Amino acid sequence: MYQVRPYRPQDREAVWTLVANTAFFGAPVEPFLDDRALFCAAFAAYYTDYEPARLWVAEASGAVAGYVMGCGDSRRRTRIFSARILPAVLRGVLQGRYHVGRKTLRFGLRLLQELLERAVPTVPLECFPGHLHVNVAAPVRGRGIGRTLLETCLAQFWATGVSGVYVMTTDHNRAACHLYETLGFRLLEARQTRLWRGLVAGKVQNRAYGIRLDW
Ligand SMILES: CC(C)(COP(=O)(O)OP(=O)(O)OC[C@H]1O[C@@H](n2cnc3c(N)ncnc32)[C@H](O)[C@@H]1OP(=O)(O)O)[C@@H](O)C(=O)NCCC(=O)NCCS
Repeated sequence: MYQVRPYRPQDREAVWTLVANTAFFGAPVEPFLDDRALFCAAFAAYYTDYEPARLWVAEASGAVAGYVMGCGDSRRRTRIFSARILPAVLRGVLQGRYHVGRKTLRFGLRLLQELLERAVPTVPLECFPGHLHVNVAAPVRGRGIGRTLLETCLAQFWATGVSGVYVMTTDHNRAACHLYETLGFRLLEARQTRLWRGLVAGKVQNRAYGIRLDW
């Protein structure tokens, strides 16, 4: 049994832990980064600290077992990321609060390469201004939690007038692709990526899916 409910500030640590535990295609972040705190500070801080009203958690046996974190205005996230989150992360690195080892440096360089090679699908933000991220803890996957989280988040986007929402994933996230497609998302664009070579068997395709909510 599980219950989907709004995020509370007390959930922050549990959500960040789950973010780190599912960052690598649903598995822990450690194959590509040295320090999970760095990943959470860069990736999760926006949703928990700047737009918590669009964060929903699934609780199972009294613990956070899934989350969906939404953003109603992706341009705002980019602004806050550049002005506040990234400087805070860089300060943390310079002050030695985060461990930056070989894995992190390699991943950082690959990310840069990814941007230069334009391997990230482009999304027309005027049609799909919102976005979301969803993850469920490995032991409780396949019980309907992901679908319920997504439906809850999409209903909130719709009720609050967000006209369209996108998600970024890969062709290796099969359950996620299936869920997005069956919930009405359509594939906007797919591009091959070299970000995960040596870490994941076979080729990986980045995918952007979008859904319009202005009906
Ligand atoms: C994707 C994820 C959030 C879905 O959550 P969940 O609670 O497992 O999802 P649900 O139980 O609600 O539904 C899973 C659906 O995927 C289907 N599915 C499961 N494995 C699948 C696979 N390998 N290929 C295709 N479909 C699959 C299930 O049949 C089910 O579909 P149905 O409702 O039509 O029967 C969760 O599995 C997860 O965290 N996965 C790992 C990380 C990830 O991919 N996150 C998304 C990042 S974009």
